[in-house]
Amino acid sequence: MKEPILQTLGEFIIAHQKDYPEASGELSALFSAIRLAAKIIHRHINKAGLIDIAGLAGERNVQGEEQAKLDVMANDTFKAALAARGVVCGIASEEEDHYILLDDGLNKESKYIVLMDPVDGSSNIDVNVSVGTIFSIYRRKSPVGTTVTDEDFFQPGTEQVAAGYVIYGSSTMLVYTTGNGVNGFTFDPTLGVFYLSHPDMRTPETGQIYSVNEGNYVHFPDGVKKYIKYCQVEDEASNRPYTSRYIGSLVSDIHRNLIYGGIYLYPSSSRYTNGKLRLLYECNPISFLVEQAGGRAVCEAGKRVLEIKPTSLHQRVPFFAGSTAMVADLENFLLEDR
Ligand code: AHG
Ligand code: MN
Ligand code: MN
Repeated sequence: MKEPILQTLGEFIIAHQKDYPEASGELSALFSAIRLAAKIIHRHINKAGLIDIAGLAGERNVQGEEQAKLDVMANDTFKAALAARGVVCGIASEEEDHYILLDDGLNKESKYIVLMDPVDGSSNIDVNVSVGTIFSIYRRKSPVGTTVTDEDFFQPGTEQVAAGYVIYGSSTMLVYTTGNGVNGFTFDPTLGVFYLSHPDMRTPETGQIYSVNEGNYVHFPDGVKKYIKYCQVEDEASNRPYTSRYIGSLVSDIHRNLIYGGIYLYPSSSRYTNGKLRLLYECNPISFLVEQAGGRAVCEAGKRVLEIKPTSLHQRVPFFAGSTAMVADLENFLLEDR
């Protein structure tokens, strides 16, 4: 049996704060907020079948999507946890039309902004399938003490200070990066503590899993269609056919592929002309993690997601991420069909 590494997330964060000589402790406090919110959401999700938390809230978000009750609760929980510590001057969320200014007291003096998808895969809650939370942290561009502006939120993903996700699965895990590799922590609900369980996560160079909503196949660009057919064709040398796995929760699909090796695709289609996934709080943080784990994430052949200059808060982009060799194969198909 594998012995657990008895280092908690809190201890890990403090131990690594010294890697950044200029660190003031604000980022550590920000992580405390995320960790606490993740525990609260974990508790709610684990009771989803028992208390009145499943189902729809009766509202739609700015993107016209129906909000689940848990979307609303998780969004409120994250906002409250972040605001309480005075370490965030602005928050953007899938569930908010506009970004939120935190310009009271300590928050106004802080240097970080947070973008988040409070519950990713929320259509899966009612059927007991894993969901997640995604977060992305930037240093503000505007001067400390002033009100945050668009330029603080519309930074390319390469500027991220940290990013991560929480997966509420068969166990709850928090996985994050600050640009020095990726580490994963598993929650022990009996102690209320996240332990370092997956140090220095590396994704395999190649894999055998492809993850895409094939129901949209006929609407995909030709290059994507040809790549999917390539995944399905028998070839002993490259271990094809690959296996198809698609949960419909980005966090869960990425988490599995990160560990086993694989490729995730959410292309443009005639239904979603820019794909479905949102750049700022889905694709950028996931791309940062995938790259930090040794993988690759692009929005088209040769174009890293992290290099896109954002133009709006809820902007969508086509998204292809995973094992480097598999993404490179896909890019060749996309190039041929350009
Ligand atoms: P959210 O629940 O935050 O709106 O995200 C849903 C996303 C993502 O989690 C998932 O990968 C994708 O939507 C699934 O979309 P399809 O149902 O179109 O495959
Ligand atoms: Mn999502
Ligand atoms: Mn969501």
